[in-house]
Amino acid sequence: SGVLRIASIPGDGIGREVMPEGLRVLDAASRRFGFQLQITPIEWASCDYYLQHGTMMPADWKTQLADLDALYFGAVGWPATVPDHISLWGSLLKFRREFDQYINLRPVRLFKGVPCPLVDQRGQPRQPGDIDFLVVRENTEGEYTKLGGILFEGTDRELVIQESVFTRLGTDRVLRYAFELAQRRARRHVTLATKSNGIAISMPWWDARADAMQAQFPEVSLDKQHIDILTARFVLQPNRFDVVVASNLFGDILSDLGPACTGTIGLAPSANLNPERRFPSLFEPVHGSAPDIHGRNIANPVAMIWSGALMLDFLGQRAAHDAIVQAIEQVLASGPHTPDLGGTASTTEMGEAIARLVA
Ligand code: NAD
Ligand code: IPM
Ligand code: MN
Repeated sequence: SGVLRIASIPGDGIGREVMPEGLRVLDAASRRFGFQLQITPIEWASCDYYLQHGTMMPADWKTQLADLDALYFGAVGWPATVPDHISLWGSLLKFRREFDQYINLRPVRLFKGVPCPLVDQRGQPRQPGDIDFLVVRENTEGEYTKLGGILFEGTDRELVIQESVFTRLGTDRVLRYAFELAQRRARRHVTLATKSNGIAISMPWWDARADAMQAQFPEVSLDKQHIDILTARFVLQPNRFDVVVASNLFGDILSDLGPACTGTIGLAPSANLNPERRFPSLFEPVHGSAPDIHGRNIANPVAMIWSGALMLDFLGQRAAHDAIVQAIEQVLASGPHTPDLGGTASTTEMGEAIARLVA
């Protein structure tokens, strides 16, 4: 005990620029709160590694990582040289599946000091308390599959089948997690993203599974909303939401839309959890490698830093988590801001400002 063993996996693009800021803040937290960090830097799980080796990860990747306490992950993807489905199925999606990280928890929160693009019904800017919810995304099955195929390729009869897979185990465990989470919150409200009007087999079944789970949580209310109107309400009535539970693809979409509604996706963290701790969990920004801004030291490091705080919380360092979130709040309220927040600060300046407050 006392030593947290963590792999740092920066990946590609701005993943490599925000990772040092995340590590800087973790280091400050470890000094202040008296736990030790043992960081294992990993250079594979990147497109550079793929170009040299023809594979995203070494054959023994799983044994190299399986005994660590957590994986701290930047972003993977460099579509100019490696097709995204190759790089992502060869790394991030493999981690999520093989380490059974079936919960993807993605907090969405409007901070003081961050300009919000949304207004309320009277045209007034949204206030921080108006947007504060959690997206709970199913993370190991659903619409993300390689099941299917293309027939009559190259002809005008070309036919594409892409299957989705929803298991009772996989669906019930993410629903249960969402209800348990909501039960511990003030509003005790779950919103299910559905599409049972159009997707005629799987989504009516999701609705029924959610109703069955709700029956076990009489104190938690359940609201089933079709994904189309749900996206509209993220924009128009974000104060309605508390815990939003969704399939893999719907959750992916909602977890970029939500943070965009709070000013920038550069803030949004995520926790890919194996709640039973049979395998290491993975903590990463919601955003990707951002090839359009990489190499300029202007990426917002907050998503990476906040993800580090979620990691410490999961590993039992609640006070360190709280101190990091407070430092983020303070810097967003009055500290240096990167260009996505309307400022001129660099990635490094913003990371240093947060680390100083944590120290
Ligand atoms: P992206 O998230 O990389 O970028 C989308 C937009 O947001 C870009 O304009 C980018 O500049 C901006 N942005 C993202 N993060 C930012 C930050 N921290 N600060 C400021 N601006 C930021 O999404 P994309 O362009 O669709 O994908 C680029 C690559 O990343 C692709 O290869 C994609 O597959 C991959 N990707 C990886 C992950 C991951 O590893 N978890 C997540 C999403 C996308
Ligand atoms: C995310 C990303 C990934 C996903 C991609 C890169 C495969 O967008 O973590 O949200 O869709 O899960
Ligand atoms: Mn995404």
